[in-house]
Amino acid sequence: MTTRRKLVVGNWKMHGSRVANAELLAGVLAARPFACDVAVCTPFVYLADAAATLAASDVRWGAQDVSAHAQGAYTGEVSAAMLQELGCRYTLVGHSERRAYHAESDALVAAKAQAALGRGVTPIVCVGETLAEREAGQTAEVVKRQLSVVIHQLAHCAAEMVVAYEPVWAIGTGRTATPAQAQEVHALLRAQLQAATGRGDAMRILYGGSVKPDNAAELFAQADIDGGLIGGASLKAADFIAIVRAAG
Ligand code: 13P
Repeated sequence: MTTRRKLVVGNWKMHGSRVANAELLAGVLAARPFACDVAVCTPFVYLADAAATLAASDVRWGAQDVSAHAQGAYTGEVSAAMLQELGCRYTLVGHSERRAYHAESDALVAAKAQAALGRGVTPIVCVGETLAEREAGQTAEVVKRQLSVVIHQLAHCAAEMVVAYEPVWAIGTGRTATPAQAQEVHALLRAQLQAATGRGDAMRILYGGSVKPDNAAELFAQADIDGGLIGGASLKAADFIAIVRAAG
């Protein structure tokens, strides 16, 4: 079995200010060294600051979204080439908030993942079911469908992505999936990745949804959970650091 290095990613969502971010990142940097990979996904406008602050460290930075288009008349969009220029290691794609509030389809999410990979930016592809879908017994079907469109689009490069399982009902609600519930979905996503790429054992699948310092260790101890995508708790240095320590 392959050993996968754990990865903990902070998703700041639409939070922060230059002053608050500087304080947060100074706190994170002061806590190094870390035994796992660590990254923060900031709003676009803060990426240059993050690059300047983090460049000399092993903490990486990334975006929360990317355009599917290479360039052109797409007002308000940010291209993968621009993220590459800012040194982004990662970008989220298909976060449930973008799927829900910006009507992003599986096909658009896949095109965004491909645009990112084309510029050497690793897409963190988010999948997850709503509460209604879980209660209707459709969890497996939904997450497999979401992932399969991306796998198909990326073809021979599919093993380059990171996957994040974020049950929509667990995001920002304080209601975390139990470690067993999360593990069950991670295992089926890994089987799907393995069948499609032959490299599923080496790919990282993160869990996201109300991960906190007091539940992180139990989640990260599951066989197929390779770290976390952290929302609210990534905005406080002490909480984020505690979660990073739980991963390593
Ligand atoms: P919370 O950790 O705030 O529940 O957010 C999870 C999330 O959406 C990370 O992308």
